[in-house]
Amino acid sequence: MERVSPIAAAESESIWGATVELPKSRRLTTDLECDVCIIGGGISGLTTGYLLAKAGKRVVLLDDGPLASGMTHVTTAHLSNVIDDRFINMLRWHGEEKTRLAAQSHAAAIDFIEQTSQELHIECDFQRLDGYLISAGEDEEVDLDEEFAASKRAGVSVETASKAPLAEFDTGRCLRFPQQARFHPFKYLDGLVKAFKRSGGKVFTNSHVDKIVSGETAKVHVGEHAVLAASVVVATNSPINDMFALHTKQAPYMTYVVGARVPRGSVEDALYWDTLDAYHYVRLQPLDETSDLLIIGGEDHKSGQADDADERHQRLIDWARERFPVGEVEFTWGGQCMETMDGLAFIGRNPLDQDNVYVVTGDSGMGITHGTIAGMLVTDMILGRENPWEQLYDPSRKTVAAAGPFVKENINVAGQYLDWLTPGEVKSVDEIEPGAGAIVRRGMTKIAACRDDDGKLTELSAVCPHLGCVVHWNNAERSWDCPCHGSRFHADGEVVNGPANVNLAPVEE
Ligand SMILES: Cc1cc2nc3c(=O)[nH]c(=O)nc-3n(C[C@H](O)[C@H](O)[C@H](O)COP(=O)(O)OP(=O)(O)OC[C@H]3O[C@@H](n4cnc5c(N)ncnc54)[C@H](O)[C@@H]3O)c2cc1C
Ligand code: FES
Repeated sequence: MERVSPIAAAESESIWGATVELPKSRRLTTDLECDVCIIGGGISGLTTGYLLAKAGKRVVLLDDGPLASGMTHVTTAHLSNVIDDRFINMLRWHGEEKTRLAAQSHAAAIDFIEQTSQELHIECDFQRLDGYLISAGEDEEVDLDEEFAASKRAGVSVETASKAPLAEFDTGRCLRFPQQARFHPFKYLDGLVKAFKRSGGKVFTNSHVDKIVSGETAKVHVGEHAVLAASVVVATNSPINDMFALHTKQAPYMTYVVGARVPRGSVEDALYWDTLDAYHYVRLQPLDETSDLLIIGGEDHKSGQADDADERHQRLIDWARERFPVGEVEFTWGGQCMETMDGLAFIGRNPLDQDNVYVVTGDSGMGITHGTIAGMLVTDMILGRENPWEQLYDPSRKTVAAAGPFVKENINVAGQYLDWLTPGEVKSVDEIEPGAGAIVRRGMTKIAACRDDDGKLTELSAVCPHLGCVVHWNNAERSWDCPCHGSRFHADGEVVNGPANVNLAPVEE
């Protein structure tokens, strides 16, 4: 079984059995000037770059890894206009008009992916499908009738069905949403990058952005070099330029996925998700002549606040085996979603910056469609065109009706600072096995200590350079994860996920 991890990102992508090499790029080794500098080469940055370059802007895109090495690397790529947080909540938080607009924007994102792949002749396995919301049975937390009525009010096409079209799984009554879709994200992005470059877009990878200095002309620092730009788009999944404002309005959650073989044609090709919180999400990807890959996700938890990925993957496999003709498990992996307090991403002008700095974050588990919406919306804003979604996704918004989730998440963050008062997880580094990591107290401070498979010890400060929480070891990913706002670091301390933008510090003698 292969464990696929964003931490071990590679340009050659093998999730779902298809190897796709995204075009290679080089590191930034000179100073440049452009109209728009985009930071982040995932779905959000690449869609924005493609559209702006197509509109004639001189665009430079920077990524500190290979392209699509962030959360786009590990997505399951369900394409849906059915909002993850449920329409019943969306109506409470946003009212009917905005909920309709939100559903329309996700539908427009699916249309965009379909039309773009047709226009650019990208064969990315795009397929329109039905989506089924199925009851989780005894643990049911959502009333299907209420969600049906809420979906209607949201202007979304929906029907009730007596059961989902699954031979071995009697789902009972469920909701059917037509016109959902799935695709292969790497095949799609491969075509998008090539089109971006054909329109004059420049891509630099392995180019870590250290700092963004806003101003009439913004300056994006990459080591000793800089890119001067009239506009900057920060599409790093978790913003590296906003240290506080946005991070109190969203929370990082780890989610887990397994990919298992099922006999070809044995499972009806559709999207399925259930009513649990956290819910299971299921889709198919064609694999070979005899098998499809059944991709099952779920088992979410707040980042850095659990370290039991193997058990979570096993629970997903057990859940799937009870319901689908699951054969060999080919892949297990996981990743992080940024859940906002009101179910919608933050896309637009960065609250604390000048008007020419834009941010894309808060995917809320729908980052492929939110990232595509970002491409369309930010392009319109930079080109000075009106866009009906501008207010809806405004990063400065305060959704008063969503104060409950906001308070709950911030109390949780405040609680994490108590880690400063607790003893270490082990008394001495001698207790740490090869391949494991743990926090050790040393006087007033805490040390993040881990060993590689050969037993070699690495010690770092356990203090997250963002706002000072104590990081936790993630055994599955062999990373240090911050339980406060989702910063993640390699075992050697190198930052892989914002908001922190520098590495864990060495231990001070
Ligand atoms: C397991 C999982 C399943 C998911 N399933 C779905 C789904 O079914 N449907 C859906 O719509 N969404 C899904 N999502 C969410 C979605 O995949 C993500 O939200 C989306 O891919 C994020 O894209 P992005 O471009 O915004 O960010 P990313 O893909 O994370 O790209 C950000 C890029 O910024 C770069 N970067 C970061 N910091 C710097 C820096 N300082 N300098 C330079 N570059 C930097 C990174 O290297 C990275 O390449 C899922 C997420 C996970 C984790
Ligand atoms: S991510 Fe904010 S303190 Fe670590």
